[in-house]
Amino acid sequence: MADFYVTTPIYYVNDAPHIGHSYTTVAGDVLTRWHRQRGESVWYLTGVDEHGTKVQRAAESGAVTPQAWVDRLVETAWKPVLATIDAANDDFIRTTEPRHKERVQHFWEVVRDNGYVYEADYEGPYCVGCEEFKLAGDLVEAEDGGAPLCPVHGRPVEMLKEQNWFFRLSAFTDALIEHYERDPDAVQPASAYNEVMSFLRGGLVDISMSRSSVSWGIGLPWDERQVVYVWFDALLNYITAIGYGAAPDSDEGRFFADTWPAQVQLVGKDILRFHAVYWPAMLMAAGLELPRCVFAHGWLLVGGEKMSKTRLTGIAPSQIIDVFGSDAFRYYFMRAIQFGQDGSFSWEDMSARYTSELANGLGNLASRATAMVQRYRSGVLPESGPATAAEDALHAMLSVVTAEADQAMGALDFAAGISAVRRFVDAVNLYVTEQEPWVLAKEPANAERLDTVLYTVCESLRAIAVLYNAVMPRAMSALWDQLGAAVALGPIADQRIADVSRWGQLPPGTSVSKGAILFPRIEESTE
Ligand code: MSP
Repeated sequence: MADFYVTTPIYYVNDAPHIGHSYTTVAGDVLTRWHRQRGESVWYLTGVDEHGTKVQRAAESGAVTPQAWVDRLVETAWKPVLATIDAANDDFIRTTEPRHKERVQHFWEVVRDNGYVYEADYEGPYCVGCEEFKLAGDLVEAEDGGAPLCPVHGRPVEMLKEQNWFFRLSAFTDALIEHYERDPDAVQPASAYNEVMSFLRGGLVDISMSRSSVSWGIGLPWDERQVVYVWFDALLNYITAIGYGAAPDSDEGRFFADTWPAQVQLVGKDILRFHAVYWPAMLMAAGLELPRCVFAHGWLLVGGEKMSKTRLTGIAPSQIIDVFGSDAFRYYFMRAIQFGQDGSFSWEDMSARYTSELANGLGNLASRATAMVQRYRSGVLPESGPATAAEDALHAMLSVVTAEADQAMGALDFAAGISAVRRFVDAVNLYVTEQEPWVLAKEPANAERLDTVLYTVCESLRAIAVLYNAVMPRAMSALWDQLGAAVALGPIADQRIADVSRWGQLPPGTSVSKGAILFPRIEESTE
């Protein structure tokens, strides 16, 4: 069972991933690792959304069947990118899997039996990029007077006219308003909450839950001419993947009962309405609990607009990771953009922060510390002498910083969480500069004082490694090894946030080694 269930949206496999997609997955991963280090059992789900018009058309353009198209992209691009960004997800759901298909059909049978599905005609605009039936107020006028444009994709919508099955969404307006009035934290940040509330207060209209002019999808159990509308198939991944619909006394059925509802569902702001309005209404219609929190993050922008493949502005994660490494990638996006707001990526900003905060800040501290223990104490961590005011100040600061980081990470304020730890890194760097261990080393009479300084710096790095592990797991595990902490204290992932500020955990006598540089300098391209 999981105490803390986290999900990302499932990504369309019409094309390969770009950094906008990885942004959501990294955020979920940081949250997952942090909560694991809080001692909670976390289940982290991500996956891919394989049906619908968008994918069907992409396959047609590639002159292959939709199944062949998705199989190739999932295996060559979507699964490998998880390793590239160091995602520690527990499961990966594909909507073409039998477990998903069967449970989606079961879900809609239940909702239909409960009286929330009926047959009717749909006529109106549809954006294939969003896979969304648009409302008039959602669109912008085209300058050439042609079909109105989808504001997200900047492309004309298509006019649809089909007979299909409707979901009685309107029945849930009041219940959703009441739910969110009772629990304002269920949609975050506040701007997202306000957007959802004003949409709900405008009243909900029923919406098609099936498509008759699309063939690539999950067949409706009671009408074989239709497939489930792609969003009403995709949203269900959050429950089909954890065993919804399995026999209650089976392992999967029990896992579902113990794991649902999700604690945090991460989404981009473009898909907030699906997650904070349609999804909870679907759950209510099936008599299931609602997620505890849907958190909408902002967009990565290029030239002021959402980065996207449609606009040809997508950057592949590997383009950045090949230069800076996965830790810096994760650090940068969590640190430089306030989660919940839009942000721009620029190579200059990435490079500047990498150099000042990672290479010169943390990387330099780690290499100075390990080099000094090597040089002055033959690589053996000395026992600390009595603490002075300088050490007492660092101990006290560590407690404050840990509490602050824990509070911020729990609230998905990753930038503030990182900032707290960074303040501590800066303080330890300053401590080294002020204590001048290289001067102390010249005078044998200062040996005990030097021991204290060396111990203090290594023990501070022990705490920093644990606090930064969720954000930079690869580099922090390397640092952990260099400190000899893996041998002395066990795996870094097993270290608890609640224990971080307990001073004196690294046992004197531990072997400290000078390993590879954590954040090597980036060679300027001469091209
Ligand atoms: N398949 C749907 C989601 C179904 S969930 C039941 C979908 N897929 S998507 O691939 O278009 O987008 C998935 C996620 O990636 C969304 O949260 C979206 O906000 C995010 N991003 C896509 N481009 C983005 C940026 N440029 N910036 C930040 N996030 C972006 O929607």
